[in-house]
Amino acid sequence: MNATSDAELIETGRKVFAGDWKFIWAAGSIETLPPMDGMEVAFAGRSNVGKSSLINALTNRNGLARTSHTPGRTQELIFFEGPPNAGLRLVDMPGYGYAAAPKAKVAAWTALIHKFLLGRASLARVYVLIDSRHGFKDVDIEILKTFDRSAVSYQIVLTKIDQIKAAELPERIAAIQATLAKHPAAFPDVLATSSETGAGMPELRAAMMKLLRERGA
Ligand code: GTP
Ligand code: MG
Repeated sequence: MNATSDAELIETGRKVFAGDWKFIWAAGSIETLPPMDGMEVAFAGRSNVGKSSLINALTNRNGLARTSHTPGRTQELIFFEGPPNAGLRLVDMPGYGYAAAPKAKVAAWTALIHKFLLGRASLARVYVLIDSRHGFKDVDIEILKTFDRSAVSYQIVLTKIDQIKAAELPERIAAIQATLAKHPAAFPDVLATSSETGAGMPELRAAMMKLLRERGA
């Protein structure tokens, strides 16, 4: 991609995300998903990694998605829709790998997450969020393997980069990329973000605009 189209995608993303974003649907089971309409992108990752905060930062809306200091805040698939004609929905998901939750609940969430991520035609990409302080954990690698097997297109988004030293960021990204080389369905670029400072938001919005274009929307 050349510099001109980069700048153009960033500007389009800025406009789309400056528009009106609203909550449209919450689904606690695969039977109660909203009818498919437009393109969806989903935010997956361990509990507390910052999925809901990222949705708020992207949309410039503090209370749009519910966040919490305690893991396990988001317990359903939560759908947000952008301005009319944008054709884009964001899906906030329950976190995986939350050890303190009751076993039955964890199993139910895991089943829901898997069914949704593997069986939704309108889902263009899964953003897999990784805490920049911690890197990949075993549960993350399990999810990546599942995506590889099902050819789900996914990209890694590092979160909370305000919590690490700027000088450490390149080596964190390199470590992630070294692991990604073993995962065929992974998009090779890693996006580094902070919902706290807004770092990486223009790039993430632009990435979604590119996806929309590739889909012919
Ligand atoms: P679950 O819904 O429980 O799976 O969590 P989640 O992934 O949606 O995380 P959430 O957005 O609720 O954020 C968890 C905690 O991390 C909150 O206390 C946030 O304020 C904090 N947090 C999220 N993003 C950032 C960030 O970029 N920087 C910093 N410093 N803190 C963040
Ligand atoms: Mg959440």
